[in-house]
Amino acid sequence: MVKVGSLNISPPLLNAACAWASDLDQLQALFDCPYTGAVVTRTATIEGFAEDASHTVAFATSSTTSLNSYGYSPHRLSQYLSWIESILSLAKSTANSPSKKPFIISITATQTDDMHSIVDAIQALRAQAPVYANIGVEFNTSCPNIRGSAPSGYAFTDLVPVLDVLADAWRADNTLTIGLKLPPYVYGAQFAQVFETLRGLSTSRSAEEDGSGIHPIAYVACTNTLGNALLFPEQVEGASTPFAVPTALGGVAGDTLHPLALGNVYSFARLLEAEDSTSALKNLVIVGIGGVTSAEAAERMRRAGASIVGSATLFGGEGVRAFKILSGEV
Ligand SMILES: Cc1cc2nc3c(=O)[nH]c(=O)nc-3n(C[C@H](O)[C@H](O)[C@H](O)COP(=O)(O)O)c2cc1C
Repeated sequence: MVKVGSLNISPPLLNAACAWASDLDQLQALFDCPYTGAVVTRTATIEGFAEDASHTVAFATSSTTSLNSYGYSPHRLSQYLSWIESILSLAKSTANSPSKKPFIISITATQTDDMHSIVDAIQALRAQAPVYANIGVEFNTSCPNIRGSAPSGYAFTDLVPVLDVLADAWRADNTLTIGLKLPPYVYGAQFAQVFETLRGLSTSRSAEEDGSGIHPIAYVACTNTLGNALLFPEQVEGASTPFAVPTALGGVAGDTLHPLALGNVYSFARLLEAEDSTSALKNLVIVGIGGVTSAEAAERMRRAGASIVGSATLFGGEGVRAFKILSGEV
């Protein structure tokens, strides 16, 4: 069991936010799976994302690698809130000791007003009954497939106003667990900038207001897909278009991403190690995501410094059986 903010994740294995955690049936299957310690939704926005035929995924034939051109979920945040409400209330009414498995709602916003609306809606559900308190939020800063919009996590200091909205929500209710989904970084100064910015976030208010030296951000999830990647149709299963995905370029994940994801986890783990023992950041949990396609790969993530491990590509190929595989039981 790993405690992240106010959430207990047991086992410390989860799905990464993805297209296969998009609708009610998929979320219910993840919730019912005994091998996941939490369910992470696909990234939701207030209005839903305008999805079309150019948004898709292809699987490589030579390794467990995916290339996807998806943006965010076409379903609105309000839809996710009502699906989660129905899954948790059904679990409560049908079991003597209902599952305490947390939901983590992946969300994103570029404007502070939108982030306010998102957090208010999530907090309204969490406040409704104790069964809904076990809901956290993951801010996706790293989708590489949004036309005309760079992944915000690559200009991390610009995120401060939106991060402040999340931090204020945590100061008002420090049972709200907040995570950040980060893009794959490729040089040291990028990791340092994330830490510097987060340090500034915790010291932007007095110690009394922050309460007990805990940081508002409970975890970082490393990493999202690596953008601007290209595969040709003969490299993937069943594509008949000139490129593996209609947009030509997409985010690569799975085995191909694994060494970079390990390096990202390792880099954050080293920064955490170097952090002063009194630092509010000291308790930051690292969720290792990227090419976790076998029990051995999950173990490598833990060796690199992850306390929790997540998977999307293997889950996309195998369904929830992926988590049995990653637990070493297949
Ligand atoms: C088809 C697909 C859809 C994805 N959608 C999201 C998403 O909505 N939000 C998000 O934060 N990450 C999304 N991701 C990225 C995954 O969460 C994960 O970070 C990435 O795929 C690396 O993990 P993997 O190697 O296990 O696939 C998606 C990945 C795939 C393959």
